[in-house]
Amino acid sequence: MDRIGRPRLHLRVTDSTNERARELAAGGATHGTLVTASEQTAGRGREGRTWIGPLGETLLFSVVVRELDPLLPLRAGLAVADVAGPAARVKWPNDVLLDGRKVAGMLVEARPQDRWAVLGIGINVAVDVHALPMELRESAGTLGRSSADLEPVLHEVLAALEARLREPAAATVTALRTRDALRGREVRWAGGSGIGAGIDEQGRLLVRTADGATATLDSGEVRIGSV
Ligand code: BTN
Repeated sequence: MDRIGRPRLHLRVTDSTNERARELAAGGATHGTLVTASEQTAGRGREGRTWIGPLGETLLFSVVVRELDPLLPLRAGLAVADVAGPAARVKWPNDVLLDGRKVAGMLVEARPQDRWAVLGIGINVAVDVHALPMELRESAGTLGRSSADLEPVLHEVLAALEARLREPAAATVTALRTRDALRGREVRWAGGSGIGAGIDEQGRLLVRTADGATATLDSGEVRIGSV
């Protein structure tokens, strides 16, 4: 089986590692192909947001995935949490939190008809949160490691990702049970609110609503709390 992280293309600066990885995937790159960058000029976040990664403080990378799987972003979140430590939580669908602050985000861009997806991951490894733009200071966190740890953390995450991608879906869902940032918490989304009730084997979020029903969400943004 191909290893996650090989071959690797490293760019000192690029617009978005997801963009580079998409080009490689469209050109036939194999499963596990990795694109890393020290700096992005147009890093992409979910829902059309931009992703800011201060130079030398964050990991910015994208992996070509050819084994499509609805659990992909959650498996990736778990892999990052495995490295971040026991206190790390996965916030459905694709954030990793430490002390309630976002330390990593995933952006999956898929072309199922061409049998590839690109998994983009940004991790705040050594970020000085106080130096971030004001709008991020409240919500962003850091692994609290040093800049010298960027490459070691990348290798730890790739190894964890390889293991998480290989395990049965049931094992991923079981692991998520103890890492789920939304379980038992009040959550709300564009269409309603309720209490987080776990994640199913298709990677969908279950929410118990006030009328006792269970809502099943398969995409979108969810906020923790009642406001
Ligand atoms: C999010 O939380 O909104 C997703 C953030 C994903 C950011 C990473 S950084 C590496 C890769 N390249 C991009 O342009 N985006 C992803």
